[in-house]
Amino acid sequence: MHNLDGRVALLTGASRGIGPLISDRLARAGLKLVLLARDRARLEAEVARLRAAGATVIAVPGDVCDAGAQEAALTAAEGLGGLSALINNAGVEDFGHLTDTAPETIADTVAVNLTAPLQLCRRALPALLARDEAQIVNLASVAGLLGTPYGATYSATKAGLIMASLSLRMELAETRVGVTAVCPAFVHGAGMHEEAKRLVGRAPALLGSTTAEATADAVLRALRDNPAELIVNDAPLRPLVGFGRSLPGFATWLTGRLAGPYMRKLADARRPPGA
Ligand SMILES: NC(=O)c1ccc[n+]([C@@H]2O[C@H](COP(=O)([O-])OP(=O)(O)OC[C@H]3O[C@@H](n4cnc5c(N)ncnc54)[C@H](OP(=O)(O)O)[C@@H]3O)[C@@H](O)[C@H]2O)c1
Repeated sequence: MHNLDGRVALLTGASRGIGPLISDRLARAGLKLVLLARDRARLEAEVARLRAAGATVIAVPGDVCDAGAQEAALTAAEGLGGLSALINNAGVEDFGHLTDTAPETIADTVAVNLTAPLQLCRRALPALLARDEAQIVNLASVAGLLGTPYGATYSATKAGLIMASLSLRMELAETRVGVTAVCPAFVHGAGMHEEAKRLVGRAPALLGSTTAEATADAVLRALRDNPAELIVNDAPLRPLVGFGRSLPGFATWLTGRLAGPYMRKLADARRPPGA
């Protein structure tokens, strides 16, 4: 999008983690915001913080999987002048031994990380198509490009979200709605990787890492430039992703060697007693 000032964005997962850094960037670029997450108190604190800095913000507390919450967020966006940007950022991780993972956890991870973004895209598209320019940004992960040991469900949802993004991008090629998949890995400073760090320390440097700030900057870049996919990591992962597509045996061997011991430590740390 050429001009972000005055446009309206819906950001899911805005209550904590990387979300507040994304809303900062969006507000500073002049976007009006609708924020969706379940934690009402945190969301209201975010609204107060952003309004104090001069932003126009509405909070819609709710579960991103709930059709009513999705509709309420879209109605709020219409009230602010019409949706131009949908940022599907809400996500959950469930790294661990698959045999330790409850069936409901697998279903919830798929619902939040994959089904909800698709449903929101579907519901938001009429509004987005009515704008002169619009953008969908899906927070995926390098886990969806390479796979992750002890992360079968999470990686599957993020791979699904990347393919959903690329497919929708092709479907919308003749329109003015762009679609980008943003793929960070091991984000430091805020977000879900901080809990893993508390449990088992930092991931090995060879796997590369990034910051919550760089991830939020990538979302803003996606809104401005409409790239198909942005990998956010300081290691040169693109060649490994290329190998992953042409030589999956080699790529999983290498990724398993690099990430396996760290992810195994995390999975073991989360084992329920007696498992
Ligand atoms: N941090 C990383 O290392 C990393 C790496 C790659 C990709 N990512 C992706 O980046 C995105 C943001 O991750 P993060 O690290 O900021 O995670 P986080 O700190 O765990 O925050 C997740 C956000 O999603 C919201 N959320 C979760 N379930 C929800 C639901 N059912 N309905 C509504 N909101 C829900 C949470 O809010 P409530 O609890 O208030 O609902 C929270 O605001 C995710 O899609 C994640 O997969 C993160």
